Amino acid sequence: MKKTIGIVILAAGQGKRMGTDTPKPLLIASGKRLIDFPIHEAKMFCEKSNLSFLITAVTGHKRELVNEYLGQHYKDVATVFQKEQLGTADAIRSYFAQQKAGKDYDYTLILCADTPLIRSIHLSFLWKNLLSQNLDAVAATFIADDPAGYGRILRGEKGFRIVEHKDASEEQKIIDEVNSGLYIMKTDYLLSHLAEIDANNKSQEFYLTDVFKEEANVAPILFDDYKSFVGVNNPDQLEEVFLELNYEKIYDLKKNGVSFYDSSCTYVDWDVKVGAGSIVYPNVSLRGNSVIGKNVVIDSGSIIKDSIIGNQTTINPYSIIEKSHIGEKVSIGPFARIRPDTEVGDNSKIGNFVETKKAKLKKGVKVSHLSYVGDAIIGEETNIGCGFITCNYDGANKHLTEIGKGCFIGSDSQMIAPVKIGNDCYVASGSTINKNMDDGDFAIARSKQEIKPGLAKKFIKKKDK
Ligand code: UD1
Ligand code: MG
Repeated sequence: MKKTIGIVILAAGQGKRMGTDTPKPLLIASGKRLIDFPIHEAKMFCEKSNLSFLITAVTGHKRELVNEYLGQHYKDVATVFQKEQLGTADAIRSYFAQQKAGKDYDYTLILCADTPLIRSIHLSFLWKNLLSQNLDAVAATFIADDPAGYGRILRGEKGFRIVEHKDASEEQKIIDEVNSGLYIMKTDYLLSHLAEIDANNKSQEFYLTDVFKEEANVAPILFDDYKSFVGVNNPDQLEEVFLELNYEKIYDLKKNGVSFYDSSCTYVDWDVKVGAGSIVYPNVSLRGNSVIGKNVVIDSGSIIKDSIIGNQTTINPYSIIEKSHIGEKVSIGPFARIRPDTEVGDNSKIGNFVETKKAKLKKGVKVSHLSYVGDAIIGEETNIGCGFITCNYDGANKHLTEIGKGCFIGSDSQMIAPVKIGNDCYVASGSTINKNMDDGDFAIARSKQEIKPGLAKKFIKKKDK
């Protein structure tokens, strides 16, 4: 039979030191909310360890926002309410009081919502120690350069106890082995000791750390990669975590055949995928859920957010792509702005200073210079000259421009939408088109040129020497 484990994510605290209105579990690092990390890693650990699990977050401060987020993104994460933030033991009491099933799970894993660098391997290591040494409870510990603020580990003959920084004597403060706030316990052990905890300490809080006793069958498990246990309590730590996640992500991509020329100033969000053989230049930011294909080149200064980029495409410098789908062997930019809902077919080209929005460009379309293509469909192999504009907005509504296959649209043309141009049409340069064209039509819509021989000298003014 599978062993069972109740997972509790502590997310009720106020996070005062962050100084923002956003509740701490919902702060963003590497394109994800902080609370996403412990949820994901705890699930991975349970799957790898063949455990049957139940996940519950304890929420309190701004719980409406945290609960709404969890409700929208996770079907399998329950929430319980800690009315007042009376300490971590009180949070666990709220859990057992409201999540009645929690008591029936053999083990309880406790994680904080603000430690996004803890990975499933850490949880597995704790778990293996608990089982192999047949312990009742374990706490993950590490050696801190600066232990101030952390609970200190006091190892006894058999077990250990934790003294919070505020309550520690000068002698105890010298101890540098500290509590990370990550625990696995037998549920029976936790329940029996939880009942005894009081708030007789400097903070007058109910400390969960008081479940650990020197005479009990419990052990601190020391980890040497202290960086993984950083908690986000202030903006400095949020930046530290962001940079660490970025380092981890890029390290992983490099192992999978992606090249970076200077990863110290390149940013890739946690959920982004990049195919082998792709090259990412410095000062690039790949965000959200973007999926980049194989052998793609992304040049300096480009930002790609929630977009799909096909194989062998080149994104030239300083191009911004958002919520769009770019095909294979496409060339974008430099200085292109691809706004949401743009689809670019294979072998197309979008050149410098081109802006697109809600535009469907089929295969082999070229929009090479200085154009605006909004609310438009452009057929295969059509060439759009320099300085083309879709006049899509009448002040109240947006309208569609449709251009067929194989057209030549001369430079400095405008399409006053709604307008429909057939296949194989030719629009002369400088035309303002507001009437539909049938397949094969030619349109010219500009005033006629007049030539007055020799009259130039009347208009050319020379500066006095
Ligand atoms: C806690 C530990 C400390 C450890 C440190 C590691 C206790 C008493 N101390 O201290 O030994 O070294 O973490 O970072 O546990 N929370 C609630 N309800 C509450 C209070 C807190 O849900 O009433 C949540 C917070 O949102 C946070 C977590 O519990 O996710 C830890 O609380 P925090 O106040 O950050 O504890 P620390 O003082 O850091
Ligand atoms: Mg903390």
